[in-house]
Amino acid sequence: MTHPILIWPDKRLKKPSARVVRFDADLHTLLDDMNETMLQAGGVGLAAIQIGQPVAALVINLPDEEGNQPPENLLEVINPEILESKDEILWEEGCLSVPEYYEEVKRHGWIKLGFNDRHGEAHTLEAEGFLAVAIQHEMDHLSGKLFIERLSMLKRKKFEKEWRRSRPR
Ligand code: CO
Repeated sequence: MTHPILIWPDKRLKKPSARVVRFDADLHTLLDDMNETMLQAGGVGLAAIQIGQPVAALVINLPDEEGNQPPENLLEVINPEILESKDEILWEEGCLSVPEYYEEVKRHGWIKLGFNDRHGEAHTLEAEGFLAVAIQHEMDHLSGKLFIERLSMLKRKKFEKEWRRSRPR
């Protein structure tokens, strides 16, 4: 089932996520719900904390050339850790918790990631470009951080102004 997505400045988004130790049916349900919620919202990635669960789990499904996100392209990442990184790239990011706002953020252009799958098996993955960016963006959520916190002071002010303008109280 789908869940409501927490929207900035919801304080729950700041909560650090705990490592997963039980790879059980509850975790599998959470991952299935995260995937469903992400696809329904038209997103490419989602961290568990975005639906209020502070556990170190994220899902990513980058659209293929036709813009589709087939199930076989789904990447489920539990307990991620960046083992190596290099290069620097600027990438325009958005976030389901900060709707309709996009801005360039500086990230590593290449990473080597260690993580568990839904059964607790350990894997490593080398990623570059969009995938590397998406992983780093989602990992920020696990430490309670949003991409708007990586903006320069000037761009952050611009964001807050635009946000207030688009959402009058
Ligand atoms: Co996000």
